Amino acid sequence: VNGGVRTFDLTAEKGSTEFPGQDGPTETWGFNGSFLGPTLRAERGEKVAVDVANDLDEATSVHWHGMHLPATMDGGPHQMIDPGQTWKPHWTIDQQASTLWYHPHPHGKTEDHVYKGLAGMVILDDDASADADLPDEYGVDDLPLIVQDKSFDDGELELSDDGAEPGMLGDTVMVNGTIGGVQEVTSEKVRLRLLNGSTARTYAFEFPDRSMDLIAGDGGLLDEPAEVDRLRLAPGERAEVVVGFTAGETVRMRSAEVDLGGVAVPATMGGHDSFDVLEFRAAETLTPAPEPAWSPSSHAGDDALVEAEAATTRKFELEEREINGERMDMSRIDEVAYVGDTEVWEVRSKQPIPHSFHIHDVQFEVLSVDGEAPPVEMSGRKDTIYLEPNRDYRLLMRFEDFADPTMPYMYHCHMLLHEDEGMMGQFVVI
Ligand code: C2O
Ligand code: CU
Ligand code: CU
Repeated sequence: VNGGVRTFDLTAEKGSTEFPGQDGPTETWGFNGSFLGPTLRAERGEKVAVDVANDLDEATSVHWHGMHLPATMDGGPHQMIDPGQTWKPHWTIDQQASTLWYHPHPHGKTEDHVYKGLAGMVILDDDASADADLPDEYGVDDLPLIVQDKSFDDGELELSDDGAEPGMLGDTVMVNGTIGGVQEVTSEKVRLRLLNGSTARTYAFEFPDRSMDLIAGDGGLLDEPAEVDRLRLAPGERAEVVVGFTAGETVRMRSAEVDLGGVAVPATMGGHDSFDVLEFRAAETLTPAPEPAWSPSSHAGDDALVEAEAATTRKFELEEREINGERMDMSRIDEVAYVGDTEVWEVRSKQPIPHSFHIHDVQFEVLSVDGEAPPVEMSGRKDTIYLEPNRDYRLLMRFEDFADPTMPYMYHCHMLLHEDEGMMGQFVVI
């Protein structure tokens, strides 16, 4: 912290990484290192300033996925950083405690830059969540887990473009850049901050013999924890779960065959596409965990969204690589929203292809899916959701502030191949 401002330095750079079992060293990209980037952490109300330097040979950008902030600080395709340049965004954290992430967003090249290793987590804290007595010792009982699938060819990361939908599905799963990793557990309850940082793969996380307590989605803590056996997470989505362990045991979290809403994708990792993700080894004695002191105020701070106040309803139809019949055009503004307005966005995927829909700047609520209450994994504030084909998703959001008629925010499919091929639009808030 420097003069009341929390400062971070990020440098996008090339490097090489030795991955176990691969014929490396493998050429990779990372922030402040050869692969992935540091976890950035800040508190609600804090001013933050980041120096983002680009040591690559090509332009990139760094987007703060899930962050409520001015469009000029968003790090989308309009905030490119040329090689050798440094971009200096700054803003004030004004949203509830949550698990966000950062990644490049150069138009047409996001898949490539993320796949090579440019991604990291952001953890936001606030007083309400600190009072909830959740596991919160970073790296001990509060673990960031960036899950990605990769494919290797002759020791190098391969991003095959064989035309398969929804993009490349790798045959190797990595957690925090590690293949076949083992996580030591020293506490009876562990909080996992899961980020699907993959380019195209959707996971269905589960433990073979126990349920998980879902405590948070993309945008912060839920109204109350929900017990889930399995958790579907599409590219770009996050979730926080608390899992119980017993002394001395070894157990593996895996991804089960994922239900994509009637869409079939090729099985590329394990039989029927279910595979182990991470092994947990519990110590002989575990630190007892307090019962969470959960109360509605645990997630307070963000004003309630009220559907009856919606000023506008917009419709978004995803088909081919288009949204409402258009591909991304950097010089076209597709939608104009007004500061202070509550809106409903109705989103529908019109093809049997997996899509995940993401909106910049806001955390929305899923009102309904085909007129029914949304599944528990869609409760709480969200910024990215998996779209089952031919279903209507009604999303409720409010554009709080940051009027800027000239700089747009993005909404797009977070399957990165789709995004790069134009499945994206732009909105301004005025
Ligand atoms: Cu995670 Cu527009 O992106
Ligand atoms: Cu985003
Ligand atoms: Cu898509």
